[in-house]
Amino acid sequence: MLEAIDLTKKFGDFIALKSLNLIIKEGEIFCLLGANGAGKSTTINLFLNFIDATHGKAMINNMDVSKHKETKQLLSYIPENLMLYKNLSGLENLRFFCGLGGGNQSKGELEELLEQSGLQIDFIHKRVSSYSKGMRQKVGIALARARGAKVLLLDEPTSGLDPKASNEFSELLLNMKEKGVTTLMATHDLFRAKDTGTHIGIMKEGMLLEKFESKDVSFQDLEKLYLKHMHN
Ligand SMILES: Nc1ncnc2c1ncn2[C@@H]1O[C@H](COP(=O)(O)OP(=O)(O)O)[C@@H](O)[C@H]1O
Ligand SMILES: [Mg+2]
Repeated sequence: MLEAIDLTKKFGDFIALKSLNLIIKEGEIFCLLGANGAGKSTTINLFLNFIDATHGKAMINNMDVSKHKETKQLLSYIPENLMLYKNLSGLENLRFFCGLGGGNQSKGELEELLEQSGLQIDFIHKRVSSYSKGMRQKVGIALARARGAKVLLLDEPTSGLDPKASNEFSELLLNMKEKGVTTLMATHDLFRAKDTGTHIGIMKEGMLLEKFESKDVSFQDLEKLYLKHMHN
């Protein structure tokens, strides 16, 4: 579903991502760990085609994202802070952003999507300015569902969420996984990576140092491995 082939990004002489080779299969949740500046966002931005690769390719469904704009229709992107209109309700935001993507769901369908994404019913019609961060991220999930996204690209979506909100977000990701959605997520949360991810990669200075299946490591081993790489 997602594939990076020798994917490289330079900013001037600085190499932000160095020859990344990675395959993420349908229904997998791949968690990218690494200190700030490791190249996680650069990787995600390349898949989004927000930036151009210096070498190599980012592929979605065997299509090079820089050549096939239709790959955008398969994607939903949730950054750390989702851009929503604060003076509009969750429902109005969802309706607006779905409309931009050509969606034509009824009000009832959109309400249901918000509800299924865990937004409390009494908040659906309230202004987003009254939402917690976790609630805004749920609107992001509802939008991904409304668009029928096959791929989720998540850049630290749970940073700053309390454990309950973070747990709810994980549940939503697992629910999307059951529907065959493929996820690439940058995160600093080792616990969630182990708990929710099917696969984990550790990045440092633009390089993917390790990748493995979450089931093959204990949380303690993951933490040790992560810290070992950060100290080297
Ligand atoms: N537009 C840019 N111009 C110059 N350098 C950049 C740009 N974007 C990212 N970088 C650099 O690339 C490196 C990787 O950044 P990033 O992918 O954002 O890391 P992460 O998301 O893992 O914290 C950092 O050193 C960052 O300063
Ligand atoms: Mg980042």
